[in-house]
Amino acid sequence: MHLLNRIAVITGASRGLGRAIAISLSQQGARVAMVGRNEETLQGVPGAEVFVADVTVEADILRLEEQISARMGTVQILINNAGIALRKNVTDISLDEWNAVQTANLTSAFLMSRSFIPHMKRAGSGRIINIASIMAHISAPQRAAYSASKSGLLGLTRVTALELAQEGITANTISPGWFETEMTAPLQLNPETNAMILAKVPMGRWGKPDEIGALAAYLCSDAAGFITGTDIVIDGGWCAT
Ligand SMILES: NC(=O)c1ccc[n+]([C@@H]2O[C@H](COP(=O)([O-])OP(=O)(O)OC[C@H]3O[C@@H](n4cnc5c(N)ncnc54)[C@H](OP(=O)(O)O)[C@@H]3O)[C@@H](O)[C@H]2O)c1
Repeated sequence: MHLLNRIAVITGASRGLGRAIAISLSQQGARVAMVGRNEETLQGVPGAEVFVADVTVEADILRLEEQISARMGTVQILINNAGIALRKNVTDISLDEWNAVQTANLTSAFLMSRSFIPHMKRAGSGRIINIASIMAHISAPQRAAYSASKSGLLGLTRVTALELAQEGITANTISPGWFETEMTAPLQLNPETNAMILAKVPMGRWGKPDEIGALAAYLCSDAAGFITGTDIVIDGGWCAT
């Protein structure tokens, strides 16, 4: 229970990696604020509280900060996990589609950090984890908008870490490879893409969301207090090839 009574805000907690992180932090004693757009799908994590917000809307995030302050108190852990994918060639992406990906994946993390860093400063300690992707490190066709947004998260995180280095607050990214979630379900279900992905991953399997949960719990712990401004790739060895 190394996160006992720490208040943790997790965006995109309704399913997939965000939900796995919520369960993992909760098991370590954290009091978790589950954030997403659908109240029903955010339910079910014991002891967690549910907050409905669209992280692409600034007013929602400002309201969220007020609600979490009032209902839970001072936040010490922020996990910016909510995100969307887009697979299109550069020449086929509309400006609206491009902007939607940047807003959901990158601007949301900026807005959430801006709202909750003052909590961590008041507490004298804090943890920020932004969920990036191996697409911030390697590339593939049709991933321009997604890859740009995730690469941007690495830059945002490094600067945040430097600005907070004297305040007991760390900021890091986790870059997952391929994990079994709804976002990747179409790729898992298509025998061709599934085989292509498994052939590229040296460990020959998909990642399990629990494995991201365990890493996030470690980065939130006191044991990880000297890790900041960096990125941890968790991909079964793909980026090593
Ligand atoms: N799965 C992978 O293999 C993989 C690999 C690398 C990186 N990632 C990254 O990991 C993160 C989680 O991925 P996942 O696979 O778990 O995705 P997922 O199953 O599609 O879940 C996405 C989550 O984000 C939330 N969300 C999306 N847009 C939102 C918005 N505007 N406001 C609030 N919440 C929003 C969704 O909640 P609601 O729809 O309920 O609001 C949902 O909880 C993403 O940032 C993704 O890019 C995933």
